[in-house]
Amino acid sequence: MPTIVDTIYGSRLQAKPVVKWPGGKRRLVNQILEQFPEPPIHNYWEPFAGGAAIFLAVANDVSASSIISDTNSRLIQTYVALSINVERVVQRLADLARQHSEEFYYQVRKEYNNGLDEIGQAAAFIYMNRVGFNGLYRENRKGEFNVPYGHRPFSFDPDNFRVAAALFAQADLRVGDFSQVTPTGNDVVYCDPPYHRTFTSYTGTGFTDVDQVRLRDACLTWRDAGATVIVSNSLTEFTIELYRDFEVKYLQANRLISRNGDERQSVVEMLAILRP
Ligand SMILES: C[S@@+](CC[C@H](N)C(=O)[O-])C[C@H]1O[C@@H](n2cnc3c(N)ncnc32)[C@H](O)[C@@H]1O
Repeated sequence: MPTIVDTIYGSRLQAKPVVKWPGGKRRLVNQILEQFPEPPIHNYWEPFAGGAAIFLAVANDVSASSIISDTNSRLIQTYVALSINVERVVQRLADLARQHSEEFYYQVRKEYNNGLDEIGQAAAFIYMNRVGFNGLYRENRKGEFNVPYGHRPFSFDPDNFRVAAALFAQADLRVGDFSQVTPTGNDVVYCDPPYHRTFTSYTGTGFTDVDQVRLRDACLTWRDAGATVIVSNSLTEFTIELYRDFEVKYLQANRLISRNGDERQSVVEMLAILRP
């Protein structure tokens, strides 16, 4: 049976993120893409992938490779599993949906921490991201995922997963620090680091002020190599000073930032840009 990807083959593929990641850029995609150079982009680099919302929107404009990376290896392994066998992941998610309950969540979490096959790990990762507390990814010292149940229903859109999987299958998916980015002329690097003074413990290690400076310095090197560099961050005195030599835009975002997860606030965040 043809899938959605076969049906729309040849047209422009765009997908929404398959995980709901704190700080996700889904609502800001258009405002961020406005700052991109005219397509085609040579290589596209997204070294703080998270939900990879921008990659999933821009993948078709890339003429060479998209290099998508993050320090969260479980997240990248999920994208790899999807790109290799999306139908099996979708099937497994449908099984999880049928059994969904609070008790079942804790059972899945236990199995995930004990280790499943690649497809099982990916489906459990996606399931727990959607029904766990606030979509957080947090591990204890033993490296076990320990986010409590979030009292949320479970649903997913298989066709969106198929399109996202087709896009991830064309990308180079890597685990690692942002310093591994090595762009050349006509490349674009988009960075969405853990924001200054907000959530700083996505992988339990934290992203310090020293890392923020290290990223700013890397941006200057990437621009000197010929790339367009775009960085998102929160708007604080520290980030204003850090990016004072960059072109800066302010974005009004309606996104979830509160700890209890149901309070929508309008936040201004920044985009710092360097053009070659
Ligand atoms: C704000 S989230 C990204 C949100 C994402 N762009 C989206 O649209 O959903 C930041 C990501 O940076 C990753 N990260 C933290 N420290 C990192 C580092 N030193 N190098 C690369 N990625 C890192 C975290 O694992 C997390 O997934």
